[in-house]
Amino acid sequence: MNDSLINNTAVGDTTNHLVNGATNMLSSDITILNQFLFGLVPYIALTVMVVGSIIRYDREQYSWKTGSSQLLESKQLRRGSIPFHIGILAIFVGHFVGLLTPNAVWHALGVSASTKQLIAMGAGGFFGLICFYGMVILIVRRLTNARVRASGTRMDIAILLVLFAQLILGLGSIFVSVGHLDGQEMLKLMSWAQSIVTFDPTTAAASIASVHWIYKLHILLGMVIFVLFPFSRLVHMLSVPMKYIGRNYQVVRRK
Ligand code: HEM
Repeated sequence: MNDSLINNTAVGDTTNHLVNGATNMLSSDITILNQFLFGLVPYIALTVMVVGSIIRYDREQYSWKTGSSQLLESKQLRRGSIPFHIGILAIFVGHFVGLLTPNAVWHALGVSASTKQLIAMGAGGFFGLICFYGMVILIVRRLTNARVRASGTRMDIAILLVLFAQLILGLGSIFVSVGHLDGQEMLKLMSWAQSIVTFDPTTAAASIASVHWIYKLHILLGMVIFVLFPFSRLVHMLSVPMKYIGRNYQVVRRK
């Protein structure tokens, strides 16, 4: 009986050892994947975006445009495009300031992490819904208006749907943030973004390792948007026509 007890214990030890070994291997694989996705992919995506945009600007000036379909249909466009642009530009500024301003600055301004989390959820949610309203109109228009559809490209539809999916993930993340009102998850996301721009990929990947998958998916889709940027009409963002504001009027007749 003692022999079988010893044997069972030995088998148990071996099994534990194997399970621990497999768990360690799995967790080191996950760490490598995490390092790759959140430490390396952002640099690949940003390089494609910057280099791709420079090449397109240099070689294909005539394709550098918004690709406006206003001449084909303007009523629905105005109803969708204005809220879409108000929402997405506000979200863009919010992301830029919110993710890249060092925590020490927020601290000096007297804004605590939990207050900042509430502002991100409130302002992001408000402008996200405005953007959502505009995007639904734009997507319906692009898919159902025969003239608009015929004149557009597959990329026009793809980029709209990718932005829409990104918006849904962003809005979805607000529900997860409700469970982290102390702002600690947001500090990890800020640390990721700030470590990326200060060329510290190891800290970036480590900062984000434990956050909810919805934030991770949102960030990865953001990287997809960066990659698609030079191949889509998104390039028009780099040509904001500020000169329009100061130039003389032009008379444009309808017929
Ligand atoms: C392109 C790169 C992007 C990155 C790296 C990114 C990253 C993030 C992160 C980390 C959060 C969570 C912030 C927090 O809870 O403190 C967030 C939230 C959010 N994102 Fe993005 N995002 C990107 C693009 C976009 C785009 C294009 C949209 C809209 C189409 C968008 C819409 C939202 C919304 C609505 C929220 C929730 C409200 C907020 O916290 O502002 N994001 N994003």
